[in-house]
Amino acid sequence: MLATLLPVAGLFCASAVAAQEADGERLFRQRCAACHAMEAGQDKIGPRLLGVFGRAAGSLEGVNYSNAMQSSGITWDRRSLDTFLAAPRQVIRGTRMTVSVPDPAQRAAIIDYLQDQSTD
Ligand code: HEC
Repeated sequence: MLATLLPVAGLFCASAVAAQEADGERLFRQRCAACHAMEAGQDKIGPRLLGVFGRAAGSLEGVNYSNAMQSSGITWDRRSLDTFLAAPRQVIRGTRMTVSVPDPAQRAAIIDYLQDQSTD
């Protein structure tokens, strides 16, 4: 019995770990890239997220931010990104960014990716 279950459990764990390390980049493309570019100087409906770590929320020149974002007083780091992405409109009332990432592992993967893209 055990002998038949173990390989299955092993497979399950391996894929869970893979899914978690997952590919922040893939998740970013799926969930964020429609509105956010990762290239310097390119803004879509949302501001570019290249270099977002350490940025004061709502501070890029030429981006049409909501007043709520600009006056939020937030600086983006792991913690603020994590709470914001879990429930954007609860953290910044009146933000125009309404897309949330409820799954903590997916948030962590996306934040890893954003951090990678913020340090040269
Ligand atoms: C439907 C479009 C849309 C999607 C999808 C989207 N966003 Fe946004 N995002 C916006 C808009 C619009 C703003 C500006 C909001 C404001 O000013 O209130 C924004 C703002 C932000 C900011 C603040 C940036 C700054 O310069 O202060 C972060 C961080 C952010 N988004 C992260 C993400 C991440 C990560 C994802 C993917 C999980 C994502 N967004 C998906 C539209 C989107």
